[in-house]
Amino acid sequence: MTARFVAKRSSGGAESVFCRAARRERVERTPVWFMRQAGRVLPEYRAVRERFSLVEICRRPDLCAEVTLQPLRRMPLDAAVLFSDIVLPLIAIGVDVEIVDGVGPVVRDAVRDAAGVRRLRAVEPNEDLPYLTETIRLLARELHPQRAVLGFAGAPFTLASYLIEGRASRHFLRTKQMLYANPALWHELMSRLTSITVATLRAQVRAGADAVQLFDSWVGALGPADYAEFVQPHVRRIFAELAPEGVPMVHFGVHTAGLLDLMKDDGATIIGLDWHLLLDEAWERIGHDLGVQGNLDPAALFGPPNALERRAADVLARAANRPGHIFNLGHGLHPETPLANVMHLVDFVHNESTRLRSAAATAAFASP
Ligand code: CP3
Repeated sequence: MTARFVAKRSSGGAESVFCRAARRERVERTPVWFMRQAGRVLPEYRAVRERFSLVEICRRPDLCAEVTLQPLRRMPLDAAVLFSDIVLPLIAIGVDVEIVDGVGPVVRDAVRDAAGVRRLRAVEPNEDLPYLTETIRLLARELHPQRAVLGFAGAPFTLASYLIEGRASRHFLRTKQMLYANPALWHELMSRLTSITVATLRAQVRAGADAVQLFDSWVGALGPADYAEFVQPHVRRIFAELAPEGVPMVHFGVHTAGLLDLMKDDGATIIGLDWHLLLDEAWERIGHDLGVQGNLDPAALFGPPNALERRAADVLARAANRPGHIFNLGHGLHPETPLANVMHLVDFVHNESTRLRSAAATAAFASP
């Protein structure tokens, strides 16, 4: 590593376009990154995956940093999201999870009773996940300061659903059965997972992550009353315990339209929106004192460029140059997404958001 790079990152990526936008400062253009940007859309990722499993990549900081940076070598993305998986901390504490191609995490010793919950011990990032913090350190050193390093972790509800169901689920019936039938056990499970999530995120920030995202992908399975009773106290604890670290915190879930009025008060500084909402209406509900991230339908990338541009322009128009918008998809990139469209979208967001800002400045200057 050259001294030049070390010096340039001395204040980390705190002044990157991503972080300035995340703090709702005025920025020259809208920052953009994609959930799942470091994965199967890239042939160079698939080439690495032919030789190493996902978990093997995560356990080798040099390889993991390389895979994290692959999409940034191709496209002027504003953030590098750590290559990892939400189940990695669970694997590190001895849960028997396999990440199966095309399926996702499969838990062989599903958690269904008090003994199962008791097996979930606390995570000690330095001992259990040294490769995770080492990868963040490498990224924080190598990346240009104009690009942010994002850490992430799974939220307790989404992790609990994998642990209880054993794999991705459609109706989350066993999960809901536990929270209805045995609320005390449910809260014990959530409280243990919350501690794991806090420890994992805090370690990433202290290793140099400029911002973090809490992935509560499946929390939209719950109605608002159940969210308030069974999830919210734990999510609030996560953001309360991380707030002193002083970095932007994104809270993301899918199908959260019915939950936004609760989520907005949980302590995140940015709410990640899926594409079932109009960004301006959702932001209005959340309140403009928080930022928003999103929210293009990932399937828009399968359309022709003009259809893609029209939808991306609509997201930007709804954000209306307001400080605090980070462009993203409403969920992760699909593996089959045409790469050319992904690259085109990054340029389009940068150019169109720059154009919108200068148009607004010209209009302001022209008015008396
Ligand atoms: O680029 C990035 O976003 C960072 C990498 C990342 C992975 N998983 C790597 C991965 C991130 C942020 C995750 C988070 C994650 N993992 C979530 C939350 C985000 C979301 O999409 O809702 C969830 C629910 C998981 C669980 C999981 N792991 C799923 C649903 C899958 C996909 C299954 C499949 O094959 O379609 C995985 C496996 C996984 N994690 C892959 C990647 C790149 C794909 C398999 C592979 O390339 O080996």
